[in-house]
Amino acid sequence: MDGAIMSSSSVSSFRPSMTTTDLTTNDLTTSASPFIEQARCAGELYIEQPYELYSEENHQAWRKLYARMLPRWDRYANEHFLKGIHSLCLDPDRIPHLEDVNRFLKPLTGFQTKAVSGYVPAFIFFDCLRNRAFPTTITIRRAGKLDYLPEPDIFHDVAGHVPMHTDKHFAEALVRFGECAHTAAEMAAGIRGPDTRTHYLTSVIRAMARFFWFTIEFGLMRGCDGFKVYGSGLLSSYGEIAHAIEAPEVQRYPLQLEWAINQGFEIHHYQPLLFIVDSFDHLFGLVDQLERWMKTGKLSNVAPGEPVVNEEDLKSFLHAELS
Ligand SMILES: [Fe+2]
Repeated sequence: MDGAIMSSSSVSSFRPSMTTTDLTTNDLTTSASPFIEQARCAGELYIEQPYELYSEENHQAWRKLYARMLPRWDRYANEHFLKGIHSLCLDPDRIPHLEDVNRFLKPLTGFQTKAVSGYVPAFIFFDCLRNRAFPTTITIRRAGKLDYLPEPDIFHDVAGHVPMHTDKHFAEALVRFGECAHTAAEMAAGIRGPDTRTHYLTSVIRAMARFFWFTIEFGLMRGCDGFKVYGSGLLSSYGEIAHAIEAPEVQRYPLQLEWAINQGFEIHHYQPLLFIVDSFDHLFGLVDQLERWMKTGKLSNVAPGEPVVNEEDLKSFLHAELS
């Protein structure tokens, strides 16, 4: 089954792992790249995109993924995404150079892709968004196994996320997410007891992760001819993009902040519940509201459950540099 894929943020609670038996070729295949493993061992989060390491199989994976998604994007994707794909001039046949993507992207909204070696702790991820940088995975899934990948790859990040970043209103909502993370870290810094601070942050990070999931990753938008997809988990999933719109059993409801922040989710199957926004201005207003609720304490005790908030996420907020 074609499954859900998250951003490089830890909020997916997924951690890539690799064994020495995976290290058979020196290319940029997900979970099997010596280059990435070395970067991780060296503690390098931000990396260059070593383009020459992409193998023909890597490019073939991109080509197959792109070709089969095109008709589905035409049918199910929102107009801003379609415009974004056009603006970025992505090559259907070859994995993109991130510097080329940035050359087209930056003049539109100020956003840029930023290559990472993998997992990005939550505060760092959101803080990148605040600075209009998008942590971007550079590896790609195997050409013979296109359908299921629990961790992000360059197809999910560049073909699924980045076209949305060409839209000014969407970009502002993403930046607002980053500002919310800053507010959370500031508020946590003002809490004296370490246990109280940890409880507060765990709840707030969970609330933010859920809201991000139900919007940026799996959001639907109301359009003049029915619902369209703007969530990147759907935009990069051949099977789920159609399921999200067509399947009668999927619950689709207008986005309610109080529901989304208390609703757990699972990443290894098609999503049974999706939320709809009217516009990206509507989305921006809800992120604004998220911050207001954070300030009044409404996010301090959200419902327990998924996603798991791990130690590194907590530490990233506790040790945040608040400039
Ligand atoms: Fe994602």
